[in-house]
Amino acid sequence: MELPSTSRNAWWHTATVYQVYPRSFADSNGDGVGDLPGITSKLEYLKALGIELIWLSPVYASPMDDNGYDISDYQAIAPEFGTLADFDDLVAQARSRGIGVVLDLVVNHTSDAHPWFVQSRASRRSAYRDYYIWRKPAEGGGPPNQLTSSFGGPAWTLDERTGEYYLHLFSRRQPDLNWANPNVRHEIYQMMNWWLERGIAGFRMDVIDYIGKQVDQNIVTDGPHLHDYLQEMNRATFGSRDVITVGETWSATPGSALLYSGRARQELSMVFQFEHVTQQWDEIYGKWRSQPFDLVKLKSILGKWQYALAEDGWNSLFWGNHDLPRAVSKYGDVKGYPVESAKMLATVLHLLKGTPFVYQGEEIGMTNAPFTKIEQYRDIETLNMHRLHLEAGLSPEDFIRGANENGRDNARTPMQWSAGANAGFTTGIPWIDVNENYIAINAEVAMSDEHSIWNHYRRLILLRKSHPIIVYGRFQSYLDQHPDIFAYTRTLGEQRLTVLANFSARTITLDLPNELQGSGRCLISNYDPVHKVDAAMEFRPYEAFAILAQSRS
Ligand code: GLC
Ligand code: CA
Repeated sequence: MELPSTSRNAWWHTATVYQVYPRSFADSNGDGVGDLPGITSKLEYLKALGIELIWLSPVYASPMDDNGYDISDYQAIAPEFGTLADFDDLVAQARSRGIGVVLDLVVNHTSDAHPWFVQSRASRRSAYRDYYIWRKPAEGGGPPNQLTSSFGGPAWTLDERTGEYYLHLFSRRQPDLNWANPNVRHEIYQMMNWWLERGIAGFRMDVIDYIGKQVDQNIVTDGPHLHDYLQEMNRATFGSRDVITVGETWSATPGSALLYSGRARQELSMVFQFEHVTQQWDEIYGKWRSQPFDLVKLKSILGKWQYALAEDGWNSLFWGNHDLPRAVSKYGDVKGYPVESAKMLATVLHLLKGTPFVYQGEEIGMTNAPFTKIEQYRDIETLNMHRLHLEAGLSPEDFIRGANENGRDNARTPMQWSAGANAGFTTGIPWIDVNENYIAINAEVAMSDEHSIWNHYRRLILLRKSHPIIVYGRFQSYLDQHPDIFAYTRTLGEQRLTVLANFSARTITLDLPNELQGSGRCLISNYDPVHKVDAAMEFRPYEAFAILAQSRS
């Protein structure tokens, strides 16, 4: 099979990545918190699903102000997650099953308990002062400028001891590192090499678009040296190794994605872009008051990314992660068609060009957390925003409604393994409530049912490994203005893959353009197999299927 010359083969082009949120995945010792031995005990499950890479949200030593995204020692494992020996065991056991372990690299900031920061704040003359971003108060007092934290309030906190402010674009316990300082960069590269030597398969890079910030110019993302730093990092660490790297970049545009992931650039394998997520947010209240779902917009954004990265660069494909609501709750129909809509979403995403990421529990159709009281929430962002929005006059009920829809804890309830106590996640008291629907929605039930969402994911993951057209085929969208139908083709050589999906709970009847018509082999469907697309078609609620045809036969 001739592959487009533009698509260099990389082993991770055919792989599907599974994101593990360690705190909520599997608890091995009954303390209510998921841990590394718990993950190791589930490797067979991941292998059965066809997963070749797991990305672990942070497992490093941390005061857990932001569930581990506040790191106090980059080269130690948080005791609640286990030990370095547990980590090495996970990597070895995973490797023996053909699974690589990707670590979360959180280097925009550290914890305030990191020894660098402890020394940095001790004195203005500390050798570590310049590891962080310190500024004098504004003239007349107050923070140096108007930058705000993603978790609410000013991005600056006054440190009484030295009378200066330090920058924290997240919580005040997450001071931002100063990437302009070469010592900071070199310490980080050494740390990365230490993990690479331990046999990890790559890094997911937390808010990596922030590291080139220039606070005095109010530049946070895409600063002037961002790409220089990434190229330097690439040369100093993973560039010589066959690993996968994915940057978390909320600011990414197709143009900047080509800089991050372009073939000749020597930066990253790919980035996570969030345009399809943020397009639904309110201009003022952000995700706490989101707009109704609009398929035409979603298609235009996903399509734009497919076209832009067709010749160079590489896409990541995902519906959810630990910061986002559950895919089926957001884009599907949990009440009417939970199984059909979850399979439809998987079909549409996994047959695009790019590397798919499955967020834990997505493969069994886990849903948003039905919390009714603020006391049930654990996430620092949700708790901070609750305080701020209530102060600003939002009613508690409205806030809970927003959190139910978009709060980060939706994705953080324990993985539902079985219908047993606490969904089989822990024998103790879980750190956050289990979603009460675990009796019906759990991995044990899903694996034993041939028609489950889980088996649908397993088939999609397998298809990617056996069909180069799914990996490399050229993307073309159709019916761009249709409010309910997602339609695209992929073509490679003589082959053509047609993907059609109904994003609504209604039966949709429509006339299809010539280019979509024809017959072939049904690769996957969520009702019965469909082998032929006619001039006029009827789509059942959330129906989705893919037909593979020889285009010139
Ligand atoms: C990223 C992480 C998020 C975290 C933040 C600060 O957005 O995904 O969970 O709170 O960075 O590290
Ligand atoms: Ca535990």
